[in-house]
Amino acid sequence: MWGGQFAVGMADTMQRINASIGFDQKMYSQDIAGSIAHAAMLAKVGILTTQESETIIAGLRVVLQEMELGMFEFKVELEDIHMNVESRLSELIGDISGKLHTARSRNDQVALDFRMFVRDALFAMNQELTSLLLALLQRAEEFADTIIPGFTHLQTAQPVTLGHHLMAYLEMVIRDKGRIESLLTRMNECPLGAAALAGTSFPIDRHLTAELLGFDHPCRNSLDAVSDRDFALEFLSTASICSMHLSRLAEELVNWSSTPWGFIRLSDMFSTGSSIMPQKRNPDAAELVRGKMGRIAGGWTSLLMTMKGLPLTYNKDMQEDKEPVFEAYEQWRICVQVMTGMVGDFTVNAPRMREVAAQGYATATDLADWLVRTLQLPFRQAHHVTARIVKAANEAGCELVDLPLALMQEVEPRITQEVYGVLTVEASVASRQSFGGTSPVRVREAIAAARATYGP
Ligand code: ARG
Repeated sequence: MWGGQFAVGMADTMQRINASIGFDQKMYSQDIAGSIAHAAMLAKVGILTTQESETIIAGLRVVLQEMELGMFEFKVELEDIHMNVESRLSELIGDISGKLHTARSRNDQVALDFRMFVRDALFAMNQELTSLLLALLQRAEEFADTIIPGFTHLQTAQPVTLGHHLMAYLEMVIRDKGRIESLLTRMNECPLGAAALAGTSFPIDRHLTAELLGFDHPCRNSLDAVSDRDFALEFLSTASICSMHLSRLAEELVNWSSTPWGFIRLSDMFSTGSSIMPQKRNPDAAELVRGKMGRIAGGWTSLLMTMKGLPLTYNKDMQEDKEPVFEAYEQWRICVQVMTGMVGDFTVNAPRMREVAAQGYATATDLADWLVRTLQLPFRQAHHVTARIVKAANEAGCELVDLPLALMQEVEPRITQEVYGVLTVEASVASRQSFGGTSPVRVREAIAAARATYGP
């Protein structure tokens, strides 16, 4: 394709470091779609005859079919997907294939292919995340009243509901989808026609190719068009943030399903046994979702480092852009799919959750609030009084709800029997009706609002 001035071929090691066909063949359908649009445009503006363009397009369709059927022989000597396609095209239709590369370069071609690949991947991930979101929504509805301990510092804080807890993850998924959607809008510009870097002397119609390929408009600056990889970086950052969310939820599932906690049971479909300990049920799927986040975020760091300090415009370093994205896409996708499966079918031990939620003086804040409301104590003072009652309960070896009134009155004589009404976990949860709070009333409203946007 470019051998005119070269007397000897590449060193073996050069071929190995240089060739990208081993991985960029993943972009074959994008590459051929780009070439078809380019050939159609070249005919429209009169650079190719209709006949030439049609011959090229028909040939490209044959190449596409061979690839789809797995009948195509990718050749490492042909370096990358672009040259593999063009070489096969020339075998199929002869010299006329050489006209396809008019007013184009591999630099704008690879920028186009990769952008379309990332765009397709974002569409697919947005759908995967919708499935996860709907699974979370369904379980949140099911457990809108189910009490679990709420933690800060992983120390018992206040009781919440499992529905509320799952809806917190739903918020994260909504933001992840928002990042995908805003990235899709921002990146939907077509680099094709920037040619090597400076544009072309041929009278091409970049607006037409952009439109044919579903872009909003052509990239405005040819130098930027061939050297920009922000879309790939943003894909990786979006994947990293989302998989960080998945890894946090995975960690909750690992905790909840462990024997001492005993909150949930992950289904057989997402657990494994041990080859030595017959009683074991290991949450491998959740652990892998937690673990794979490292690779995904590693991809982000990797491409960021590759791009740092590259002068305009295309540099071969940029061939290192694809593998981190392909890898992150594959891992991100399986993580979302597995999480959707696990969320959908774990079973809950509600009595155990309630039991733990009621431990550790979880309703101490409710007692302090009662002192503020009923005895008009300033909150700081109520906090102090409550702490002393907690200490008394600790010494008596019981929870607040079981502490005899007389012992409470030793700390604060004005406390009455009525206080017990706020000390159960049910009362605590029901009382938290502020907007966004854990009260089942609010959780059901949040679920209804999400259903209105994302469907049943
Ligand atoms: N395989 C190359 C890549 O992935 C294609 C572009 C090559 N361009 C060039 N001028 N050598 O980036």
